[in-house]
Amino acid sequence: MSKKILIVLGHPDYSHSNANKALIQLLDEAANVTVHNISEAYPDGKIDVQKEQALLESYDRIIFQFPTYWFNVPGSFKVWIDQVLTYGWAYGPGATALAGKEYGVATTTGSPLEVYQPDAVGFTIDAVILPVVASLKYCGSTYLGHAVLHNAMAVTPESVAEAKDSYLKLFA
Ligand SMILES: Cc1cc2nc3c(=O)[nH]c(=O)nc-3n(C[C@H](O)[C@H](O)[C@H](O)COP(=O)(O)O)c2cc1C
Repeated sequence: MSKKILIVLGHPDYSHSNANKALIQLLDEAANVTVHNISEAYPDGKIDVQKEQALLESYDRIIFQFPTYWFNVPGSFKVWIDQVLTYGWAYGPGATALAGKEYGVATTTGSPLEVYQPDAVGFTIDAVILPVVASLKYCGSTYLGHAVLHNAMAVTPESVAEAKDSYLKLFA
């Protein structure tokens, strides 16, 4: 049976998104992928932690997708991470909810790839996604890799094409 895949979409305003939408549109509608838009699910910011945990438990693979904001995840997504990945459930003695699950990370950046170089801002995109990658690894999940769509303020067929293979690999 094919794996059940969940995208946890940490976009504060997906209705005005171009880049994250372009990535999600790459997915075959027939594919076994559910998009969970957390800002849409909780417009008032009050996260139902038990509901979120039950949702995560019911998927085999979780793709964390977000626009890069100040070389980090958007604040609303960080709040979700802080609240949902709880001690005793995600980590700590006997906590195995995320152990053995697969995960990947997809992000979009306004800046081009050239900015994400040691001689430009001093680090690569790996540093931006590190908090998500490390957190899930800490919870015992298996990292599949990441995808990045750069130049996200002006999405073009070329920029989407550059991100396409690595993005679709997360769902293969
Ligand atoms: C508050 C804020 C902070 C941002 N910080 C960065 C940044 O640090 N690096 C970068 O490359 N782009 C940055 N951007 C640009 C976003 O990454 C870009 O708008 C987003 O990826 C576009 O995706 P979307 O079309 O799905 O909204 C920032 C945008 C906003 C609104």
